[in-house]
Amino acid sequence: MNAAHGCPRDTRGRRFSIPESRRSEPRSRTRIGVSGERIPGIFQNTAVIQIQLPVTNTLRAAVLTSALVMLGYAMACGGRNQSVVAPSPNTSALATDSALFSLVTQTDPFNSYSLFPSVDAVFNGTAFHGPLDRVRMNAKALAALQSGKLPPGTKFPDGSVVFKEILTNGGTTTTYSVMYKDTGNPQAGGGWLWSEFSPSGVVGFPIGNRGAGCTGCHSLGRGPTNDLVRTFERQHSP
Ligand code: HEC
Repeated sequence: MNAAHGCPRDTRGRRFSIPESRRSEPRSRTRIGVSGERIPGIFQNTAVIQIQLPVTNTLRAAVLTSALVMLGYAMACGGRNQSVVAPSPNTSALATDSALFSLVTQTDPFNSYSLFPSVDAVFNGTAFHGPLDRVRMNAKALAALQSGKLPPGTKFPDGSVVFKEILTNGGTTTTYSVMYKDTGNPQAGGGWLWSEFSPSGVVGFPIGNRGAGCTGCHSLGRGPTNDLVRTFERQHSP
C-alpha cells in the first residue's frame, strides 16, 4: 500500500511536496500583495495610478490562516520521509530495466505464471511479435479475471505482469516482451511499463521509452476495453 494514498499527485504520480528550501522560509516573508497594485490600461502613459486597498486585520488573518492550512496539508503528505522533490517518493516504483528483468526472472519468475486462459499455449504471433508466441500472466493479473475475461470497466491491478515469449518456429525463445502494471510509475505508458529483453537480459526495448511504439498498436482492436492487453483477442470463443 502506498502511504501517500489520498494525497494529491501530479501527472507523473509524485506527491506534491514543498522543497526544503521553501519549507524553512520564515512566515514573516509571506506577502499578501493587496495594496499598491497598479491598474494597467489607458492611464499607463499619463500617470501611475495606485489604489490603496485597506488591508484589514481580518483579511490578513484569513490569508495567513489559509496559507498555514495549505502548508500543513503539504507537509502531512510530503514530509513523512523528508524526501523533497526528487526522486520519486513512490519507493516501490521500478526504476530500471534490470530491476524489471530480475522481477520477472527471479522475484516473481515467469515460468511460474499461468498460461493466458483459453489461448493456445503457443500460437502464431502477429508480424510484430512473430513467428510464435507464448503468453502467461502472474497470479496478480490472473486474479483480476473472471471466467478468463477482464470484467467490463475494470483494469489490472498494480503488480500485474503479462509476459510474452517470442519463439522461433523451432521453439527456441528469443525475446521476452513484458508488460508490468505500475500506474504511478513515471516511466509507465497507459499504466504499464513496456520492455523487451533477450533471455540473457540484454535490453531490446527499455522501459524509459514509456511504451512509445507499443501503446499505439495495443490501443487497436479490443485493447481499449481490455486495459491494452490484446491476447484476449486470441481466446477461443466459448
Ligand atoms: C503492430 C502491433 C503491435 C505492436 C507495435 C506491439 N504489439 Fe504487443 N501485441 C500485439 C498483439 C496483437 C498482441 C496479442 C497477441 C498476438 O495476437 O500476437 C500483443 C501482445 C503483447 C503482449 C502480451 C500481452 C498482451 O497485450 O496481450 C506483450 C507483453 C506485448 N505485446 C508487448 C509489447 C511491447 C513491449 C511492445 C513494444 C516494444 C509491443 N508489444 C508492440 C500487437 C503489437
